Amino acid sequence: MKIQITNYKSGDYHTLIKLWEEGGLPYKPLGRDSRESIEKEVKNNCNKFLFAQIEGQYVGSVLVTHDGRKGWINRVVVLPEYQHKGIARKLVESAENWLKQQGIRIFACLIEDYNDESIDAFKKMGYIPFEGIRYLTKRVNPDI
Ligand SMILES: CC(C)(COP(=O)(O)OP(=O)(O)OC[C@H]1O[C@@H](n2cnc3c(N)ncnc32)[C@H](O)[C@@H]1OP(=O)(O)O)[C@@H](O)C(=O)NCCC(=O)NCCS
Repeated sequence: MKIQITNYKSGDYHTLIKLWEEGGLPYKPLGRDSRESIEKEVKNNCNKFLFAQIEGQYVGSVLVTHDGRKGWINRVVVLPEYQHKGIARKLVESAENWLKQQGIRIFACLIEDYNDESIDAFKKMGYIPFEGIRYLTKRVNPDI
């Protein structure tokens, strides 16, 4: 099974949303996950959005970003019927390689407390839980 990693191209928005929906990732269609926001984000050099494909079928994706200090691996998803085949690992490795090319040496991800499966998967990919940090945000509006 050959896993191909490809870049998000303009017009791929519905493909991305379909993966999130089928993979069970909630999203904010009126806020940062609107078509307009995603298409704007992908043009920013600090962001890289990747897909995994198998025989031309889109089976997973990841949104990578960095702030100049740390790299963030966001919204990894793999279609349920393709899970446990190394696809997330390949997506995350590709994300890390892109971050290294940008000079970034710390890779991080935020995962909800309840998502034990993803926490375990990231641990197996070399990520170490960091205790003692609380995540605080301030939002311009609740949909964002
Ligand atoms: C988390 C997720 C992306 C993993 O995708 P995947 O393609 O099945 O993962 P891989 O096959 O590449 O596995 C990578 C490693 O994680 C482990 N792993 C994968 N799923 C796991 C699970 N449910 N429980 C424990 N470990 C798991 C694998 O065993 C593998 O480690 P190994 O090589 O040492 O055996 C997938 O389950 C998913 O899409 N979940 C729903 C979306 C989600 O919650 N995303 C996280 C947002 S941060």
